[in-house]
Amino acid sequence: MAGSPVIRVLQITDLHIMAQPGQTLLGVDTEASFRDVLHEAMSREKQVRLVLLTGDLAQDPVASAYHRLRDWLEQTGWEFCCLPGNHDDPQQMVTCLATPTIQYCQPVRVGRWQIISLNSTVHGSPGGFLATDQMDHLRACLTAYPDHHAVIALHHHPVKTGSAWLDTMVLDNRDEFLALIPTFPQVRLILTGHVHQAMDAVWEGVRLLATPSTCFQFKPGSERFALDGLAPGYRWLELHDDGGFSTGIVRLDQVPQGLDEMAGGY
Ligand SMILES: [Fe+2]
Repeated sequence: MAGSPVIRVLQITDLHIMAQPGQTLLGVDTEASFRDVLHEAMSREKQVRLVLLTGDLAQDPVASAYHRLRDWLEQTGWEFCCLPGNHDDPQQMVTCLATPTIQYCQPVRVGRWQIISLNSTVHGSPGGFLATDQMDHLRACLTAYPDHHAVIALHHHPVKTGSAWLDTMVLDNRDEFLALIPTFPQVRLILTGHVHQAMDAVWEGVRLLATPSTCFQFKPGSERFALDGLAPGYRWLELHDDGGFSTGIVRLDQVPQGLDEMAGGY
C-alpha cells in the first residue's frame, strides 16, 4: 500500500513459544495464547501493511518452536518483520523463519516511513546491548533516508521502567542509543517488547512505547517479579504521511487459562 495516506502496522511481542505443542510456562500454554491473540487480530484488522514481532518469539529457542510459529504466521497472509529477544536464538530465527513474507531485522520502507528493526540481545544474558554493528546499521539507515519518518523497533527498553527487577535488564548502552536519536529528527517512535506491559513515554519529543505480551503480563512498579492479572494483547499503529501516528492496544477478554498468578519467576 505504498503511497496510502495511512499505514496500518501491528506489533505482536513476547510469545515465548515452547519446544513442544501444549507445553506451559507459568501455567500458560503460550502457543495457544499467541494463537488466540493472532486470531483476534485477524478478525479485527484490515489492510495490515506489516506486523512487527519484537522478540522472545520462543522460550525454547529451537527449530521446532520457530517452525510452528512460521506455520501460524503463514496462515495470515500478512507480511512480518521479526527481531530477537533475550530468550531467542538469532541464528535459529534466520534459519527457521525465513520465507518470502517473514523478514529478519530488515529495514522496511513504506510510504513516507522507514521501520528499522535492531538486535539488542546479548548471548547468555537477559539484558540488552546494541553492539557496534547494530548502532552502525541504525545510523546508516537513518542517514540514507532523512526524509522518511522513522520507527525504531528493538526488544529491550531504553529507559527505566519503574520495576526494579526489570530495570536490571534494560538496554545497557541506552545513553549511547538515546544520544543518537536527537541527531536524526525524523525519528518519531521507539517500539519495544520485553517488559510484558503497556508503556507510553516521551523522550526528547520521541514516543517510547512498550506492548503487552501474547502470554503473561508483568505487574508495573514491582520491586520483584510479579505477574499482572491483565489479558494478553497486541498493539496497532496507524502511520500518517505527515509523521503523525495513532496507536492503541487490543486485549483478549480474559487471562490465559491456567495462569499461575502467584508465580515468583520463570
Ligand atoms: Fe519476554
